[in-house]
Amino acid sequence: MSAVLSERSMEGAATATSGPFELGQAERDRFAAQSFLALDRLMPEAEVATTRATLERLFNSRAGYAEGARFDFLSAEDDPDKPAMPQILRPSVYAPELLRGPAAANAAIVARELIGPEARLSFDHVMMKPPHDGAATPWHQDDAFADPAFDMRSVSIWIPLQAVDERNGCLAFVPGSPRRDVLPHRSPGEDGRVHGLECVGDFDLAEAVPCPIPAGGCTIHTGRTLHGAGPNLSDAPRYAFVMVFSTPKRPVADQAARPWLEGRQTARAERERSWMRRGGLVLHVWRRLSSMPLSDYRRLLPGLLARLGGRLAGR
Ligand code: NI
Repeated sequence: MSAVLSERSMEGAATATSGPFELGQAERDRFAAQSFLALDRLMPEAEVATTRATLERLFNSRAGYAEGARFDFLSAEDDPDKPAMPQILRPSVYAPELLRGPAAANAAIVARELIGPEARLSFDHVMMKPPHDGAATPWHQDDAFADPAFDMRSVSIWIPLQAVDERNGCLAFVPGSPRRDVLPHRSPGEDGRVHGLECVGDFDLAEAVPCPIPAGGCTIHTGRTLHGAGPNLSDAPRYAFVMVFSTPKRPVADQAARPWLEGRQTARAERERSWMRRGGLVLHVWRRLSSMPLSDYRRLLPGLLARLGGRLAGR
């Protein structure tokens, strides 16, 4: 595959690299030092249009709601018809074409370059910020959501389906090591019914770098990168399709507690548990196994079973 990949430097000046779709040493070095990157192009223009149409259809049809895959990241879902930031986990389950275009192939190349050849797609998700919405995405690290019993390296490849800047909620990042510790978090408003988390650890917001990028560009961050986004003050919804790639999970001997994960009671998790008990568990396992290559079964099965056990136990 060949593509033109241009990248945005920290100072905002863009340089372009032509030839095979790959990152340059400068991008790899910057990612290692800062734990994020912004690229001006990952998804071709035509795929941006089809992906956006697909995701609009999924949101309009409330795909995944009954099984807990669709939920509100930012509220307790008191009014499901007015979500602050609706999200769908694994939209590719409902629209497999989302992972069959050039963007998924390009993302896999970039992920392997950044976290190694063992990187595999672990899940995809989509977030929508409604227009004229005053809700900001709290600062957080994605690993704050993860089971501390396991360790892995991961990268989220976040692709906006319209241009993003600070007016409509582009992501912003606090530079730091990709292996920095998971800082303390809490539920926003200390309301354990909200799915999202906010970081209450020690970090300097003055260092935050907003990353405006065109439609079909991407930002890339690790599970340890501190990131957040402002509200969408524009007239149009802000869609972002995200692919998360991870290395195999390894058990952690001296795991640090993540007390903010205890006692959470989200409506999303309750819908998922109810759906699993009504027979959804079989469908869930089948979806996971049928979407992975045979060579990945032995590698991923222990983590999958641990996660299923945790979900049934309500964790
Ligand atoms: Ni995040």
